[in-house]
Amino acid sequence: MQNFDDVQRAAAFLRKRLGPALSSQQWDAPPVGLVLGTGFSGLAAKLADQVVVPYAEVPGFPLSGVKGHAGAFVWGSFSASCGQGEGPCRPLLVQQGRCHLYEGYSPAQVCMGVRVMAELGVRTLMVTNAAGALNPQFDAGGLMCMTDIINHTGQSPLTGKNREEWGERFPDMSAPLDAGLSALALDAARRLGVRLERGIYLGVHGPELESPAQTRMYRQWGADAVGMSSVLEIIAARHRGLRVLGLSCLTNKNLPDCMRPVSLEEVLDVAAKAEKNLARLVRAVVSRL
Ligand code: HPA
Repeated sequence: MQNFDDVQRAAAFLRKRLGPALSSQQWDAPPVGLVLGTGFSGLAAKLADQVVVPYAEVPGFPLSGVKGHAGAFVWGSFSASCGQGEGPCRPLLVQQGRCHLYEGYSPAQVCMGVRVMAELGVRTLMVTNAAGALNPQFDAGGLMCMTDIINHTGQSPLTGKNREEWGERFPDMSAPLDAGLSALALDAARRLGVRLERGIYLGVHGPELESPAQTRMYRQWGADAVGMSSVLEIIAARHRGLRVLGLSCLTNKNLPDCMRPVSLEEVLDVAAKAEKNLARLVRAVVSRL
């Protein structure tokens, strides 16, 4: 569904709340959007000049009930010292935590944050998540730059009447992730000495984790990582013409012939350890936009 009126209402509220920050002449480029996935909410604390607006205050905005997901929009920037000494970094509009299909939310609710950010002028979006590695060569605790997606949720945020103001009825998906942004992230990672894999992210509905047979099948389909978010947001963002960078933290390794139980605690623990590198990478990418 394309929840046009709900998005307009939420965007109007945020425009008022972010007011001076959003329209500051200090920025000659639009803000960069950043969605922080499981365990990464702390990254927003690194931003200077923050304006925080809890989701609970935004009319109609869905709240995540999942541990590891804070619930707020955060406006801020990495400040002048953000990297290459080329002036101030672009400001960020951060979605600190997200809701999921498995919580019972609709595709429209899952994508509301991305659509609100687009309404507020975001044209470049960075999406982060926690995922299980399917590629046996990837290590738990590592980071992966998403090169493509498989939407295996059985849902689409574009179902129903199309809003031409937002995008086409049949949006192109020949390049869901932006090759230029990915190249930038890979180069930034190399300079930082951070290992960044490249791979295909498969999105499932959840909340159950994968059986060995599913794991084997997803790998045979060509997926390198599996998770319960991001694919619908990326589709909604592409519908609106946003450029998207996707970064996954590989919190566990799923090998069909030696599966072992995975807990949320483990996912959060590994994500917490990877957060520092993710923050360095995000900062480096933003400094070069
Ligand atoms: N499967 C699905 N989602 C996940 C996983 C997984 O193994 N790890 C973190 N999110």
